Amino acid sequence: MSVNDRILNAQLRGKIMSADEAAALIPSGVNVGMSGFTGAGYPKVVPAALAKRILDANLRGQRFKISVWTGASTAPELDGALAMVDGIEMRLPYQSDPTCRKRINAGEMEYIDIHLSHVAQFVWGGFLGKLDIAVVEVAGVTEDGLLIPSSSVGNNKTWLDQADKIILEVNAWQNPALEGMHDIYYGTALPPHRKPIPILKAADRIGIPYYRVDLDKVIAVVETNHPDRNTPFSPPDENSRRIAGHILEFLQHEVKKGRLPENLLPLQSGVGNVANAVMAGLRDGPFENLTAYTEVLQDGMLELIRCGKLTCASATSFSLSPDALTELNANLKDFKNKILLRPQEISNHPEVIRRLGVIAMNGLIEADIYGNVNSTHIMGTSIMNGIGGSGDFARNAFISIFMTPSSAKGGTISCIVPMASHVDHTEHDVQVIVTEQGLADLRGLSPKQRARVIIENCAHPNFKPALREYFERALRYSPGKHTPHLLDEAFTFLPNWMANKAAREAWRDDSLVQADAWRK
Ligand code: COA
Repeated sequence: MSVNDRILNAQLRGKIMSADEAAALIPSGVNVGMSGFTGAGYPKVVPAALAKRILDANLRGQRFKISVWTGASTAPELDGALAMVDGIEMRLPYQSDPTCRKRINAGEMEYIDIHLSHVAQFVWGGFLGKLDIAVVEVAGVTEDGLLIPSSSVGNNKTWLDQADKIILEVNAWQNPALEGMHDIYYGTALPPHRKPIPILKAADRIGIPYYRVDLDKVIAVVETNHPDRNTPFSPPDENSRRIAGHILEFLQHEVKKGRLPENLLPLQSGVGNVANAVMAGLRDGPFENLTAYTEVLQDGMLELIRCGKLTCASATSFSLSPDALTELNANLKDFKNKILLRPQEISNHPEVIRRLGVIAMNGLIEADIYGNVNSTHIMGTSIMNGIGGSGDFARNAFISIFMTPSSAKGGTISCIVPMASHVDHTEHDVQVIVTEQGLADLRGLSPKQRARVIIENCAHPNFKPALREYFERALRYSPGKHTPHLLDEAFTFLPNWMANKAAREAWRDDSLVQADAWRK
């Protein structure tokens, strides 16, 4: 099917132009809402053309920056290209691009890290300013002007509704069989006009499979034929397999106790290698007829569908390795009735997550001995990626699990620390912590009881004695005995890392140097 066959609406066919022409319609200083969620469904050519334009402006000594709002992280053609030319003034709500990350941490780019379910209401409420332009990838346009979503939904519905002007990329690479897979719900509103979101089961459809759009707002349509670019996952290592094993054992125990049904409750699995490995672990586990109400559909979950263990998955985006993507596209018709993609305000909606009783499993950077979790910051000051949907799920899940290897950077850093250097998920929202060493079930425990279980079950043996010693001395000398701490020592685990040259260098960036070289 050629690109032109994808644009069946006459009015939009009349607006076809090149990526350079479309990028020329984006001025400096505007807020741009782009499609894209973890390397799927992002615009492939307009951001790169815009980056070229920004570079040219910079070479003429002119400042040219825009603010970029997306669903979540994107890919090198979007975040990477714009960050390389220092073209992003403000970024939200989530990113994982190395150059973006370095710019943010170097103080050269502002970043607002937002719960993904909150973005739509922030925009509707005007808290982020006016959305000037939307740049959205779609898989096609119907004759009557409805847009067929591509491989992610994210905030696209909101961008199309709220932007003054719209640029569409119609990507012929996207599988035409995507049509009908999406569920775009148009029933959300701001308080006091909200109504219940009528999802009672993960697979419930409550919307339509298309985006509606005011065709008069569309200022450009750009034809593309470019693949999504997701990165491969690391194959599950021994640590990930052990983490998966502990979680499976825990879930079996919960079933035996009658606290979970035999096919569990809808699963949510976070981003990253460990989360993907846990899904792979479920493939070999005893559970059948599983369901998922999640944010991203990674390789492990696709595999569970393929082998018949997962009967349906609701998400907002695919987040697949190139191999898994090839498999999905080759067999999309078979997968289609088991997968639906929704706007992220619905995939991550607290009301639905609480009603369905989701089992949430997310990664962490560090957890403290009392169960506070840092998912976003290195040494409390440098952003890694962002909170993404982990807060939406953890706060509202039936069981909220956080998982991590017990140490990072070749064993030089303990992921269990006395006091988290930044807190994304408080002790109140963290029910289970799992490392390759073991699992800490924190439900029903006081802070001091939690500390003992976390240190004994989760800490790496190399760090356990120091953590025990800290806790015992805190019990003795802390002025308050409810959550005992020695405030002058609480962060002593961090200077250990600061002093470790190898770890510091692993974190040091060379992409800014590359970016400057590219600019020259
Ligand atoms: N100190 C320093 N670096 C640390 C660290 C620590 N305590 N813990 C982990 N890291 C580093 C790892 O070394 C690794 O670095 P590398 O990429 O240079 O190798 C990186 O963080 C990722 O860690 P990894 O162990 O591979 O885990 P992951 O891929 O599962 O990612 C998070 C873990 C926390 C970064 C990731 O889950 C995340 O961004 N979470 C927040 C968003 C989220 O949960 N979204 C899901 C909602 S649906």
